[in-house]
Amino acid sequence: MAETLTRRSFSRDALSTLLTYSLLDTLGNNDLFADKIKPVTRKWLTQVNDLGLAVKKQKLKQVVWQKQVEELFGKVELSDLLKMLDFDRLTKGLKYVDNGALSIRFKFPRIEGLPTEYVFGKQVFALKRKRSVVPHGHNNMATAFLILEGKLRGRHYDRLEDRKDEFLIRPTIDRKFRRGEHSSISDYKDNIHWFEAQSDRAFIFNIHVLDVTPGSKKPTGRVYLDPNGKKQKGGLILARKVGYKEVHKLYG
Ligand SMILES: [Fe+2]
Repeated sequence: MAETLTRRSFSRDALSTLLTYSLLDTLGNNDLFADKIKPVTRKWLTQVNDLGLAVKKQKLKQVVWQKQVEELFGKVELSDLLKMLDFDRLTKGLKYVDNGALSIRFKFPRIEGLPTEYVFGKQVFALKRKRSVVPHGHNNMATAFLILEGKLRGRHYDRLEDRKDEFLIRPTIDRKFRRGEHSSISDYKDNIHWFEAQSDRAFIFNIHVLDVTPGSKKPTGRVYLDPNGKKQKGGLILARKVGYKEVHKLYG
């Protein structure tokens, strides 16, 4: 009897310790919510991954990927995606940054019906009102944005020419983006973007596929610019290349 009680109380103590220190962290968005994620959303994420693989392997043109990934983003069951990101826990007690956007890293749960590996990098951007994902372009990258919460002003530009000190750009999109709305970037279309939060807080889900233009001589990653540049004929803008610090000082 005494032994049973001891074993029982041991198990209880051990379990509570595990729950406190370990299980919630390691299994938090794996097991606790696993059953609640609908098959349609598991399939959705698998399709996003398959599309990413297709664009990385050049089986899909980047502009076609943009169209298709945005169609998928438009179909997502947002509440289910938030569950899959364990969004409430991810954003609880968040320390927002006073300049620019905070990038939150996360892992997708390891549950049946989801990929075990992802071809794309991912993050959630968190912003306070008036703060920005600063204006930037991309080299050798295909990326997509989905607004999870809040309102933002989203500006996009085609990057027509790289010059020594400037980019020649053409404004393509300038509008409000709300929860559930999306946009995408490639080396060929809407390469430059800039999102400014217009609500107290705003969250953006982002995926990025790297090395989509094999043989590209440009270093893979972001390039920063000042889109409020010299106006040119036909609505074009000559936008000065700037560094990370300056663009955050100007627009962060
Ligand atoms: Fe970007």
